[in-house]
Amino acid sequence: MENNAHGQKTTLVLGGTGKTGRRVAERLTAAGLRPRIGSRSSEPPFDWEDQATWALALKDVDAVYLTYQPDLAFPGAVAAVRSFTALAVESGVRQLVLLSGRGEEEAGISEQTVRDSGADWTILRSSWFCQNFSEDYLLEPVLAGVIAFPAGDVAEPFVDVEDIADVAFAALTEDGHSGQLYELTGPRLLTFADAAGEIAAASGREVRYVPVSPEQYAAELAEHGVPAEYATSLLDLFTGVLDGRNAHLTDGVRRALGREPRDFADYARATAATGVWGGR
Ligand SMILES: NC(=O)c1ccc[n+]([C@@H]2O[C@H](COP(=O)([O-])OP(=O)(O)OC[C@H]3O[C@@H](n4cnc5c(N)ncnc54)[C@H](OP(=O)(O)O)[C@@H]3O)[C@@H](O)[C@H]2O)c1
Repeated sequence: MENNAHGQKTTLVLGGTGKTGRRVAERLTAAGLRPRIGSRSSEPPFDWEDQATWALALKDVDAVYLTYQPDLAFPGAVAAVRSFTALAVESGVRQLVLLSGRGEEEAGISEQTVRDSGADWTILRSSWFCQNFSEDYLLEPVLAGVIAFPAGDVAEPFVDVEDIADVAFAALTEDGHSGQLYELTGPRLLTFADAAGEIAAASGREVRYVPVSPEQYAAELAEHGVPAEYATSLLDLFTGVLDGRNAHLTDGVRRALGREPRDFADYARATAATGVWGGR
């Protein structure tokens, strides 16, 4: 791949302050590369909802770590990813590394867009992030001691975003990952009750899981001021991917990195040590 005026490849990291993007940007920076963050608060700003911001963010960019907001399964995602991918390739982008979601039909359409783009591509089709319990909407329930969620007793192979970032970094900096679809899971299936138990054990605080119906969860979202349309998309996503279709392990991390993925217990221990869950 060609280099820029500084003799380096420029990588645009979309969602570069978020759960995976921040870690990808940190790895690129530590390797002496200069990632460009693409988010609404970056300079220049990048906003999925404002196409006028895209061209400047893509100027002189060689590779993109492509994360869509809020989710590839949400209405509007397919069209936005299609337009962005076309503009990126037209602007000279030669490599796309897409963060995708496991078991999401709509995400499959965006994956195909990236595969057909003409750029080198790698797809990271990921299961539920462990870090949803510490850096996102499940943190508040953990702190309250009750995770009320519409996941029944389904088992999910939660993946540590550190592993996703390692795979993304490898794809962006090493040969051999082009044309690869990596399905990324953790090494173990856990129910949400199991996950709550691991967090309780690691943090020393009482945390339990309470399965609720989609209707109960919708009512709770409404109470928290989540707009009805957004809540419907969120519930469709949760009830879709948590119906058992993803309750099996894959070897994506091992195929990409030659090592086993991190276990949820290791994530819980490391996270408890940061103090984000309080406790000991
Ligand atoms: N969470 C999961 O368990 C999971 C599992 C599989 C796949 N995924 C996929 O991961 C992707 C990212 O989700 P996430 O939950 O991990 O989010 P996240 O990365 O934590 O999201 C936050 C990031 O997105 C930026 N952002 C928010 N709104 C934006 C907008 N309108 N335009 C541009 N940037 C925006 C934020 O920065 P600013 O605030 O500065 O804009 C921040 O950098 C989604 O496409 C989802 O499908 C998630």
